[in-house]
Amino acid sequence: MPPEAPVYCIIADTDHQHCSALGALIEEVGFSYLTCKTTGELTDTLNNVTNLEFAFLSLELVQNDSFGLLKHPRLIDADIAIIHTEDDPLAASAAIQLGATYFFCKPLNFEFITDLLSDLITELAALKENQDDDSNACSLDQFGLLRGSSKAMYKMYRTLRKVAATDASVLLIGESGTGKELAAQTIHQQSDRCNNPFVAMNCGAIPPELVESELFGHEKGSFSGADKKHIGYFEQAAGGTLFLDEIGEMPMDIQVKFLRVLESRNFHRVGGERNIHSDVRIIAATNRDPLEAINQGLLRKDLYFRIAQFPLYMPPLRDRCGDIVGLAQFFLNKLNEKNGTQKSLSDNYKNLVREYSWPGNVRELKSIMERAYILASEVLDTENFPNEQMDFEDNDDYLRVPVGSSLEDAEFIN
Ligand SMILES: Nc1ncnc2c1ncn2[C@@H]1O[C@H](COP(=O)(O)OP(=O)(O)O)[C@@H](O)[C@H]1O
Ligand SMILES: [Mg+2]
Repeated sequence: MPPEAPVYCIIADTDHQHCSALGALIEEVGFSYLTCKTTGELTDTLNNVTNLEFAFLSLELVQNDSFGLLKHPRLIDADIAIIHTEDDPLAASAAIQLGATYFFCKPLNFEFITDLLSDLITELAALKENQDDDSNACSLDQFGLLRGSSKAMYKMYRTLRKVAATDASVLLIGESGTGKELAAQTIHQQSDRCNNPFVAMNCGAIPPELVESELFGHEKGSFSGADKKHIGYFEQAAGGTLFLDEIGEMPMDIQVKFLRVLESRNFHRVGGERNIHSDVRIIAATNRDPLEAINQGLLRKDLYFRIAQFPLYMPPLRDRCGDIVGLAQFFLNKLNEKNGTQKSLSDNYKNLVREYSWPGNVRELKSIMERAYILASEVLDTENFPNEQMDFEDNDDYLRVPVGSSLEDAEFIN
């Protein structure tokens, strides 16, 4: 159902033929479009347009202004596709970190883009319905294990759904507590591998000298202390997904070995001779800027390109303010359910959580809700909100979803 007011896509490209072919497709799906041929025209259009949902920007044009335009406020909530003629992984990665969602090569795959825009039209109609219905203000939409009804989350859901259907390696980039691990779980659940294991390994939590044996396992007696055979994470994840958290903390020598294994999917256990094959999908996460980690010599460039077939940026909570109260309510509902209580949020408390900047993102919100829940007798009010910043450690137990468990089970474990 097309929305009533025109909803715009922008095409910024010097190639006239490209603009008119893409424009025709956009109109057929139900959007309106505007074209720009220079950086100046694009800036003017961005300053004036309302209801912008999608921008198709040529790489040349955004590179002309060193990607500065990608930070334009009108583009924050829009989907951005960078259109290029030649593969350029470094430019792709820089653009994706600035919010670009797609990196499309000419000639464009029109079928894929039609699908993408049609999904967007359907989601916008659903979003509008939700906004019209005030009673829904505190309840959030959910995709897999992730909750959120903000535009930034819808944008992420669309990408997650597309990427889940493939076997591509994904690199989740985002501040601590933004839901990287939950997104990894979601990709796994929505993929063909969902009935096989999801195994999580935190590279930053394992002493460097043990990383290799944790990853690939070891044979009995292979080093002092190896008193029995150990099956590593890579083998445990056979047929499923291996989530490598804090990939930038993996020791450099192991990064070399790991890259070799990713290319062949063959490895041997520490102290072992036998070649073992394991079909594993890799999802990695980092809370550092990966390009900075490469420059600092913490992450190998070749490994980065191998694991970041699909880099995905997780937005911080402060950039999706519309989700904060809904998430607070969601965590409170879980606590009420668990303890058989009916505590509620006062309007002042809601205002306070909405205005706070949440440096620890959803993890911090969850801990603060747990603390306020204990302190409040019936209604969570301003005095239950901590006035100094809490220490919110990244110490969540890994959410492991056993084979065959339902979404409800997964939520319960979490
Ligand atoms: N969108 C979300 N919806 C519901 N819970 C979330 C969401 N994002 C994060 N969480 C919760 O916040 C906590 C931190 O999430 P996690 O995935 O571990 O973040 P990260 O891996 O980025 O540090 C977890 O308890 C997780 O369940
Ligand atoms: Mg994490």
